[in-house]
Amino acid sequence: MDLVTALARARTPEVPGPDTPAGPAVRAWPGPPRPIPDAGPGELDLQELLRLSLAASDRSGRLRPAASAGALHPVDAELVLGAGCPLPPGRYGYDPLRHRVHRLGREPDGTPPGATVELSVTPRRTVSHYGHRAWPLMLLDTGHVAAALWLAGRALGTGASRPRLDGLAEDPLAEVHVALPEGERPDSGAELLARRSAPPPLKGTPPRDVLRAVLATAVQASAGELAWCAAVGEPQPELVEPAPDGTLRRLAAGEARPTLAVWAAGQAWIADAGAVLLAYGCPADADAPGIRRAHLRAGFAAHLAHLAAVRHGLAARPVGSWQRADLGAALGAPPGRDWIVHGLALGTTHSDEEKTS
Ligand SMILES: Cc1cc2nc3c(=O)[nH]c(=O)nc-3n(C[C@H](O)[C@H](O)[C@H](O)COP(=O)(O)O)c2cc1C
Repeated sequence: MDLVTALARARTPEVPGPDTPAGPAVRAWPGPPRPIPDAGPGELDLQELLRLSLAASDRSGRLRPAASAGALHPVDAELVLGAGCPLPPGRYGYDPLRHRVHRLGREPDGTPPGATVELSVTPRRTVSHYGHRAWPLMLLDTGHVAAALWLAGRALGTGASRPRLDGLAEDPLAEVHVALPEGERPDSGAELLARRSAPPPLKGTPPRDVLRAVLATAVQASAGELAWCAAVGEPQPELVEPAPDGTLRRLAAGEARPTLAVWAAGQAWIADAGAVLLAYGCPADADAPGIRRAHLRAGFAAHLAHLAAVRHGLAARPVGSWQRADLGAALGAPPGRDWIVHGLALGTTHSDEEKTS
């Protein structure tokens, strides 16, 4: 698979063909499924780590702690366990539907204590609906899952978890190392399990300070890999971006949301969203590692921004399918430099509230 060609094609207006079968929702791991034992004192609570990040909460497997384009969940996880886990050290495949593991073999020499979760994808699942548009979505999905694991590690009070999102390897695409717990567990993780993509419409302009806080979360989590801005409607339609002094400043005047709706596969509801956060960069001449890095980071940052938005009382929904979305060119800069890579639509009203009011 040539990722450079795949991304260039995904960015064209070409429409995917009819759906094809998605195949099984879980990789066919060999050997018997094993339950994950309870953690002993000082051990990593692997059961809870996986429940808060990867486990499906419905039988179809669509409902999970991390968002996924089309709820197709292409990301598979292998666990490389070192010392301090409730299972013997080794390599395991994770079944998110049954919340069980399959032992695959020995751990590599030098495996650190705790768990390293390696993420890869089964393209067939996402290709089944998105066809040639699938690759950027699968990379974004992997970034969302990496963020879910990172947050789950934090909720368990483990030492600094390290995501590897450098884009250098094709398989695994990314990994998150979760260290052993340090003292008390700080958090129930309930907000991680409660995350959902709010169903459109997502109306209502978020307050300026909330928008600034959510953008700041996204910028920080992007580690300089991408730039972020937000399209807002009322009271004054404009594109804003975080300024170095922590405030928001105008990037461009005027209404951007109808154009964004066209660029996002014609999803009309985006024209009425309260705000649309946009991650952009990943130029047309980016190589495969650069493409992977930009999309993994965008997914990671959008997931953290999604949870930050919910914490501030907003409704949020990721928007990952973009065509012809050369934001830089639309703003008068040279073409091909600043493509929209990912988005997060925000609103102040929740549709269930609307129903009851
Ligand atoms: C990478 C990515 C791209 C997405 N793109 C869109 C989109 O373009 N439009 C949309 O309505 N939802 C989009 N979503 C949201 C998914 O439809 C949603 O995550 C999925 O249905 C599962 O629901 P949940 O997030 O509530 O668990 C996207 C999610 C991800 C992770």
